[in-house]
Amino acid sequence: MKVEIHKLFEVLLKAQKVKPETSVIHSLAKPPILGDFLDDLDPNLVLDWSDKSFHGLPSLREKVVERFSYSPVCTAEDVLITAGTAEANFLAISNLVSPGDEMIVDVPGWPQPLVLGKAIGAIVKKLERHEDNGWMFDFDQLEELITKKTKLIFLCNPNNPTGHVLNEEELLRIAKLADKVGAYVLTDEVYRNMEWYCPLTPRMATLYERGISTGSVSKVLGLQGLRTGWMISKDKKLLFDSIVLREDTSEIMNIMGEAIADIALRESRFEVAVAKARKSAKENLSILDEFIKIHSELSWVRPVAGLIGLCNLNIDQDSTKVSEILLENPYSLMIMPGSAYGYPNHIRVGAGGGSKDDLEKGLARLDQFFKAI
Ligand SMILES: Cc1ncc(COP(=O)(O)O)c(C=O)c1O
Repeated sequence: MKVEIHKLFEVLLKAQKVKPETSVIHSLAKPPILGDFLDDLDPNLVLDWSDKSFHGLPSLREKVVERFSYSPVCTAEDVLITAGTAEANFLAISNLVSPGDEMIVDVPGWPQPLVLGKAIGAIVKKLERHEDNGWMFDFDQLEELITKKTKLIFLCNPNNPTGHVLNEEELLRIAKLADKVGAYVLTDEVYRNMEWYCPLTPRMATLYERGISTGSVSKVLGLQGLRTGWMISKDKKLLFDSIVLREDTSEIMNIMGEAIADIALRESRFEVAVAKARKSAKENLSILDEFIKIHSELSWVRPVAGLIGLCNLNIDQDSTKVSEILLENPYSLMIMPGSAYGYPNHIRVGAGGGSKDDLEKGLARLDQFFKAI
């Protein structure tokens, strides 16, 4: 299977080379440091996986269903710990979609299902979100796209990059349509717990027998480098097939990632970390909103949830070009062009990172650019 490089990754690789001084792209909370966990780590932890569960550390699985409210519908038995949401998505897509099958993916949305579906040789159908409807899609279009060949509907909820959230009623409606043809519905819930103008994002795995929820400690806890996430589903066969597939890639989760995530998800720690991340993100989102209000070069549907949003770029230049100019001096600024999502007249901005000063520094460079054009 040959996977095409996605534009989003290309932009990231390029920026890593150029090393810009600042950015306005942060999509996760301020990352903790190893020292924050040292006192709680067991120095006698054996770094061998021989006696470990292939589903993941039982205490971690229990904490995932509790902290992210999958319990009581889902239990630790319904959880597979994975190397991030990315691996959970990969395992689900690879197991459920074969060449010639149909798969429906929301756009704009997370690029992973688009590139994987294509690499598998599936027919990938795009479910279009509409900016003038707060980035919601049309159910009429979804109904048209579903056929007997549909194996998987992949939705990013809360949506990356728009911050739109599907509510429970809408998810149940989607599940009903999927059920008619026996399709699975996967919602990537990595931005859960960062809701601003809506209730907590509903969890697909709790609503439908072929529902799958994926997520991780990467965003709200800022622990992206741990590479620790999960796939949750009542479908035991899918979880088992995923373990079988993973045996030929990473074999099992990394023990250190699980041990640290297990500490991070202790109730007291979790609540403090989420509150801190939310406070900082709220402040940063207000800064972004104010900046957009006073710059006619930008406009947006403010994200309902999550740490990122997609802005219209109301200037006569393509976002790829703009991002390339900004990377260089005098700006030395990284932005995520909307073209990475197939939206060349937009840019993606982020309220994560935890530092108001960094965000303000990045926005000052953007202001400088707008004044110069
Ligand atoms: C929607 C979405 N899914 C998955 C991922 C990958 O996350 P993880 O670090 O949990 O693998 C990201 C990261 O940006 C994301 O935005």
